[in-house]
Amino acid sequence: MTAEVLFDAQPLLSRLEDASLPLCKQLDISFKNPGKELKFRPLEISDYQKGYIELLSQLTKVGVVTEDAFVKQFRAMKASGVHYVFVVEDMDKDLIVGNATLAVEYKMTHSTCLRGRIEDVVVHNDYRGKHLGVLLVETLTILGKELGCYKISLDCTPDMIPYYKKFGFLEGPQVFMCQRFSD
Ligand SMILES: CC(C)(COP(=O)(O)OP(=O)(O)OC[C@H]1O[C@@H](n2cnc3c(N)ncnc32)[C@H](O)[C@@H]1OP(=O)(O)O)[C@@H](O)C(=O)NCCC(=O)NCCS
Repeated sequence: MTAEVLFDAQPLLSRLEDASLPLCKQLDISFKNPGKELKFRPLEISDYQKGYIELLSQLTKVGVVTEDAFVKQFRAMKASGVHYVFVVEDMDKDLIVGNATLAVEYKMTHSTCLRGRIEDVVVHNDYRGKHLGVLLVETLTILGKELGCYKISLDCTPDMIPYYKKFGFLEGPQVFMCQRFSD
């Protein structure tokens, strides 16, 4: 049975064939070769069963996410057509060990433009230091550029600033403001 995927990655990743991903190249890692038994691919509806929510809990508070709620959210993301959630799976263990999202926004400014955000970057505790973070962040950043985003941003804690600077992200003059309506 074919798995239900969030989006068709093939045409997107084929855009990256010739694109420059200098950090990945330097570290000898790529979306085609993420490591032994590892697969880089879009989120699938069956990933709930593969530890996906547990992985996200290593990033932030996930609360209660039932399989029904996951499926509903997956379908909403799919229908939106602007959420490119990529994961890394350990095929040997049926375990999702890495995740990052490129979310694209359509805007009327800048002569009608696209703007990207990198979100939910996390690598499973047991798989850190194997360059999967670099693979996810650099691939999604360059994909955003290839899709035509005029800029890509992300929110992070101050201790992560040196990490993201490696990919070309810079601290801007803007400050991040936030109003929370629930936890
Ligand atoms: C941040 C995270 C995604 C990195 O994933 P990873 O796969 O372990 O990272 P990589 O292997 O690609 O890169 C590791 C390199 O980055 C460096 N690094 C890690 N955290 C760093 C930081 N805060 N600042 C600077 N460098 C950092 C490591 O020292 C290592 O350097 P080296 O390759 O020279 O040894 C992972 O630690 C994680 O999931 N953390 C918890 C969730 C989180 O904080 N996500 C970011 C939200 S903004």
